[in-house]
Amino acid sequence: MSSRMVLRCTNSFALSQPKFNGCFFPLIYHINVSALTRHVPATALSFCQLQASNLHDSPVTVASDVRYGGKQIISVDSPLYDYILSNIREPKILHELREETATMRGSQMQVSPDQAQLLAMLVQILGAKRCIEVGTYTGYSSLAVALVLPEEGHLVACERDGKSIEVAKRYYDQAGVSHKVDVRHGLAADTLKSLIQNGESCRYDFAFVDAEKRMYQEYFELLLQLVRVGGLIVVDNVLWHGRVADPLVNDSKTLSIRNFNQNLMEDKRVDISMVPIGDGMTICRKR
Ligand SMILES: C[S@@+](CC[C@H](N)C(=O)[O-])C[C@H]1O[C@@H](n2cnc3c(N)ncnc32)[C@H](O)[C@@H]1O
Repeated sequence: MSSRMVLRCTNSFALSQPKFNGCFFPLIYHINVSALTRHVPATALSFCQLQASNLHDSPVTVASDVRYGGKQIISVDSPLYDYILSNIREPKILHELREETATMRGSQMQVSPDQAQLLAMLVQILGAKRCIEVGTYTGYSSLAVALVLPEEGHLVACERDGKSIEVAKRYYDQAGVSHKVDVRHGLAADTLKSLIQNGESCRYDFAFVDAEKRMYQEYFELLLQLVRVGGLIVVDNVLWHGRVADPLVNDSKTLSIRNFNQNLMEDKRVDISMVPIGDGMTICRKR
């Protein structure tokens, strides 16, 4: 098996996993090590053995690009992810919403508690008062944001699915944040365009994008008009279950996200930081 075939085997395994929830990278790592150990030439075995010896005491992933000098990052396996989750201060109301959503179709779509905590932290660091969310579902990420907004804070939540909105609104009510959330039922791009037409350009501090993947570039262009200089646009699913890194995967959603990531790299209008949390989030700061 060539190294390319080993890579393919690894990625196929990754794609067989359900929606990324923070625990399949280490499985890739385990498979990767055993596959490499079986199939690579003896000259490369020292690398594999080094990795295999690390298997239980230090789960790491090593950059295969030699220009990074064997740089390692931590791999989050299930026990480590459980540990991370056990160190999250998830408000009771978010916990209840997450549990109710878990019984619903599409529950894997909601952001993870660690992602929600990061979003809330960014909003707080920014001192954000006016926010937009593109893709609200049952409200987990928007509620996390609304909870940390000041009383006069305002969050425009864009969602096309009425049933999901019903759940979200019930939890905004229970949490006492309904007055901060302006739910817009409809296509997100239409809502963003109407905000621009209503003279709201540059009036928002923070935006979170988590809806139709093939629309990411359009959402981004619209949000870039709505967010002020120094404001943030955070984009979810930028690693797309690892598919973005597999040149053999070229379905329309993967291509969209891969192109979007590439465009962001070259986009001088923003500073960027791609964070491997959840399914990958890129934080963009408008220059
Ligand atoms: C990944 S989920 C959002 C999860 C949410 N951020 C959370 O943490 O619970 C994506 C949502 O975007 C909505 N959506 C997809 N395309 C949309 C569009 N064009 N306009 C508005 N909402 C859309 C879907 O109905 C779905 O509820």
